[in-house]
Amino acid sequence: MKYCKNVLETIGNTPLIKLNNITKNIDGNIFLKLEYLSPGLSKKDKVAIQMIKDAENKGFLKKGQTIVELTSGNMGTGLAIACKLKGYEFIAVMSEGNSIERAKMMKAFGAKVVLVPQLPESIKGQVSGGDLQLVEEEAQRLTNKYNAFRADQFKNPSTYRAGELSTAKEIIDQLDGKIDVFTDFMGTGGSFIGISKAFKKYNKQVKCFGIEPNNAVKYGKPQSTGTFEHSIQGGGYMMDLPFINEETKNYIDGFISITDDEAIKHTRLLASEECIFAGISTGANLAAAVKLLKNEYSGKNIVIIAPDSGTKYLSSDLWQYK
Ligand SMILES: Cc1ncc(COP(=O)(O)O)c(C=O)c1O
Repeated sequence: MKYCKNVLETIGNTPLIKLNNITKNIDGNIFLKLEYLSPGLSKKDKVAIQMIKDAENKGFLKKGQTIVELTSGNMGTGLAIACKLKGYEFIAVMSEGNSIERAKMMKAFGAKVVLVPQLPESIKGQVSGGDLQLVEEEAQRLTNKYNAFRADQFKNPSTYRAGELSTAKEIIDQLDGKIDVFTDFMGTGGSFIGISKAFKKYNKQVKCFGIEPNNAVKYGKPQSTGTFEHSIQGGGYMMDLPFINEETKNYIDGFISITDDEAIKHTRLLASEECIFAGISTGANLAAAVKLLKNEYSGKNIVIIAPDSGTKYLSSDLWQYK
């Protein structure tokens, strides 16, 4: 019999799609890994099961213990699913600046969701580093209160291990190793670092570029000043990322900045040209890949990820019907 014991068994082995229509008049190929084809509709399902597996193996998690996590929605949705099916309580702590679909989905899976108001000067749909700091403080308070396990996606090595051990391996297999460039929008930087590490280990000629919003440039040049507002949910927080350090710098060939308009335009293009309904960070990844193909990486094979589904943005003005 070929059924799955539960939805956790459907996580992983996502398809890789060659974007023929978008690259019709461009020399080179873009391959998009549909990480949103997962029960929680995002790449963070893989991270959630990796976190629980690693924590169980190390004896950090006790049976039935509460898990707390700061999330822009996707990490929390992955953890909500993994916790429900593995018998843990889960509390998600999220900024009110993130789209409400995410909170509804986590709740539907049985998670407790705590929404943290944004700073007075912040804008809905644009979560700043300051907003995230408030979410972090609340997550720490709840972790202490419930004597919980803090999943800690910004620091927990399981975040990048998921990309390294599963996504990167899947891509190498799907492309028979024929990868020239990988570029990825950074939140924790976990996917970028984990996948880049595995690609470089496989073939050190693979070039790896991190992506930042053009007015929240922390690692590229010139560094942003000002309010750092942008609409690419899931990253661009203008904070030091623990996964970018002396060791992992060796996996990074540079950084690319993308505007909101470029990200939104390419997200819509993916839907209209390729019938792929993804989130805004996917558009940022695609915009960067197109830029690279049109410039110094003409003729190459570029790999990108679709971190989440466009259905998570139905309440935003990403999709229009008029
Ligand atoms: C939609 C979306 N895109 C991109 C990212 C960034 O991923 P990472 O944390 O692996 O850098 C996230 C992270 O939550 C996300 O939710």
